Amino acid sequence: MRKFKIPIADLIREYNFLKREIQKEFRDCFKTHDWVLGSKVTIFEKHVAKYLRTNYAIGVASGTDALVLSLKALALKLKRREFFDKKDEIITTPLTFIATVEAILRSGATPVLVDVDYDTFNISPFKIKEAITKNTVGIVCVHLYGLGCQMSEILKVAGENNLFVLEDTAQAFGGVYKGKKLGTLANLGAYSFFPSKNLGCYGDGGLIVTNDRKLAELVRVLRNHGQQKRYHAKYIGYNSRLDSIQASVLLAKLNYIDKFNKKRREIAQKYHQGLEGLKEIKIPLEPKDSIHTYHLYTLKVLSKRNQLLQFLNSKGVDARIYYPVLINKMEAFRSCVVKKRLENATILSKQMLSLPIHPFLKEEEIDYIISLIRKFFRR
Ligand SMILES: Cc1ncc(COP(=O)(O)O)c(C=O)c1O
Repeated sequence: MRKFKIPIADLIREYNFLKREIQKEFRDCFKTHDWVLGSKVTIFEKHVAKYLRTNYAIGVASGTDALVLSLKALALKLKRREFFDKKDEIITTPLTFIATVEAILRSGATPVLVDVDYDTFNISPFKIKEAITKNTVGIVCVHLYGLGCQMSEILKVAGENNLFVLEDTAQAFGGVYKGKKLGTLANLGAYSFFPSKNLGCYGDGGLIVTNDRKLAELVRVLRNHGQQKRYHAKYIGYNSRLDSIQASVLLAKLNYIDKFNKKRREIAQKYHQGLEGLKEIKIPLEPKDSIHTYHLYTLKVLSKRNQLLQFLNSKGVDARIYYPVLINKMEAFRSCVVKKRLENATILSKQMLSLPIHPFLKEEEIDYIISLIRKFFRR
């Protein structure tokens, strides 16, 4: 068998494909030298708002900042203060990247972790409902791996209980739920443009979207030192601005995002077909009302998950576990409230395994990965 080295995402192949367009965008930057919040950022914000069909799109310095600033803007709007209280509870998932829960703590509120749905990996609307108390102020849902949460149910619970909803869309740029782009269904959507994301830049970058004019205004002010007017700080803000170089990369890639997401979906189909019939594996689901971006292709491996991971890694396949440690198991998050047993999240943390997926993955590489998995299970 030929030897391969297959990364989980391949930015070099992507750059080779987009090189001319990215370099042209860069050359423009050297004509203006407006490096921070410059014209490229304004153009990108306009294009991305149109693509996502949202009123306001505001570029920030990272996906983490997009979450933090969104929560700060919500605190200012709802409480007229820059922080929530410790008694204010925000419900979220334990199956996410650190940043989701970190942002809730940074906003002053207490994160309440509830279980996920076993089939989709996403937060369970039923468990959200059970966890609501008189102190609950909002929900941060995470569209994990690129698949949308059950937003109709989440928005219904939120509406009935007067809660805000923030969509952590870091992994799901361009994904769709019931005809709408993920990130645009609730009060605010936060995106990450970390280089390996399905829409990524060449450093850190992030975006906040909303249809609420007041929230948009607050986020714009907060990202630039709380200044409503130059040198007049109204709030304690941040230096959290998208820069022209990152906006240039994003402008070039935005033109291809649908094509790239489509390619990811085709690769997912190939994995689905190739792994069919293996009783040790459950392939990722895509409910009828959703379009999955397959930012990650994550299997449930029902037996010998760690051995399979080691085997694939030893054969040059960069399979990984997202995430090996649940949020409630981390030292920094001891102050989170954990509602009931996080049964499904705990089971999933022992089963999940992500395979390489990116728009430039070759047919022979997909076949190689499938054949290795079949070989491992001797089928
Ligand atoms: C679900 C989720 N939320 C938030 C973030 C934070 O984004 P960033 O790394 O751009 O700060 C990430 C990125 O890894 C993520 O996957």
